[in-house]
Amino acid sequence: MHLLVTGGAGFIGSNFIKYILEETDWQVTNLDKLTYAGNLENLADIQDNTHYKFVRGDIADNQAVNNLFSGNKFTAVVNFAAESHVDRSIQDASPFINANIAGTQVLLDASLKYKIDRFLQVSTDEVYGSLEDDGFFTEDTTLAPNSPYSASKASADLLCRAYYKTHGLPVLITRCSNNFGPYQFPEKLIPLVVSNAIEDKPIPVYGSGINIRDWIYVLDHCAGIKCVLERGVPGEVYNIGGDTQIHNIELIKMILSVVNKSDSLITYVKDRPGHDHRYAIDPQKIKSQLGWNLQYNFKSALIKTVKWYIDNQDWWNKVKSGEYINYYQKWYGIIK
Ligand code: NAD
Ligand code: TYD
Repeated sequence: MHLLVTGGAGFIGSNFIKYILEETDWQVTNLDKLTYAGNLENLADIQDNTHYKFVRGDIADNQAVNNLFSGNKFTAVVNFAAESHVDRSIQDASPFINANIAGTQVLLDASLKYKIDRFLQVSTDEVYGSLEDDGFFTEDTTLAPNSPYSASKASADLLCRAYYKTHGLPVLITRCSNNFGPYQFPEKLIPLVVSNAIEDKPIPVYGSGINIRDWIYVLDHCAGIKCVLERGVPGEVYNIGGDTQIHNIELIKMILSVVNKSDSLITYVKDRPGHDHRYAIDPQKIKSQLGWNLQYNFKSALIKTVKWYIDNQDWWNKVKSGEYINYYQKWYGIIK
């Protein structure tokens, strides 16, 4: 098996590559543009692994993607590469359209041309939109994205569906809930709260903090992706979720207590425009049809994650200060 993983220098992609190298004897090539969110330090411990290779490039660059496919015999593609932050998509949607939609189309075309066996699109529960206080997202829930980010991910999902229906490309789609774990860029809620708390900076809570997210430890998501890659039925969608719904404010207070900081750091700020009220995944299909199950307990995985950020301040200090971007500029020349 030779796997092409795109976006493998980001949060989930880097955890996934390390997970795959530990669990299998597969060959993994990581194609990543190294945007502000891509960080090769996430992969420092495996950079010399003979089963692993890094290639810097943009999934929306047709020429570069075709060169990569023609020079390798990939068995499967797992597409993580994306612009992933809702707040940034509100400020400027263009990079989201380019990476998430045009990039996916380039990968789908190359996968068709080079006859890969499986194409797995890593999608999100945010494509389903927002839930009121009852119910769950199933794979049959109508797509109703509310942010430019989620709209771009939903568009990519529909392109994947079309390549399966029209061209017979063996496409699989996973839609997962909010991930947490090591190496998450500190603009996302959990690492932001931990790092701000350590620095005694205010913790910005959007609106009144009553929004609900369904949290999953990143390695449970990685196991779900591997399971769908190996056992999923082409053309099918599989929801992956953590069975753990928590109000933002409750989660923030839990983190503050682990870091041993006062709730007085909590600062209510203007709400995010179009802020989805609640996400909650029904993961019954992947559990009953493919035998996947959660392996991590939420509370202990959260404590482990918070401790990781406490122990790895150097990692997020560099990320927050932009030092690693300076490093890449020296190493690779101009980056965006
Ligand atoms: P991330 O922002 O941490 O990482 C994204 C990675 O993609 C970075 O390494 C970046 O350099 C790379 N990238 C961006 N544009 C690229 C391009 N045009 N070409 C090549 N590489 C590019 O994101 P993440 O949180 O790890 O999310 C990974 C995927 O999982 C995304 O597709 C996201 O939609 C999906 N997802 C994330 C979550 C979550 O909670 N984080 C939940 C469900 C699904
Ligand atoms: P985020 O980590 O951006 O993930 P998503 O928007 O994709 O779910 O945000 C998680 C929740 O936390 C979401 O309801 C927005 C909220 N939030 C805050 O209240 N303050 C913040 O500073 C951030 C980044 C998020």
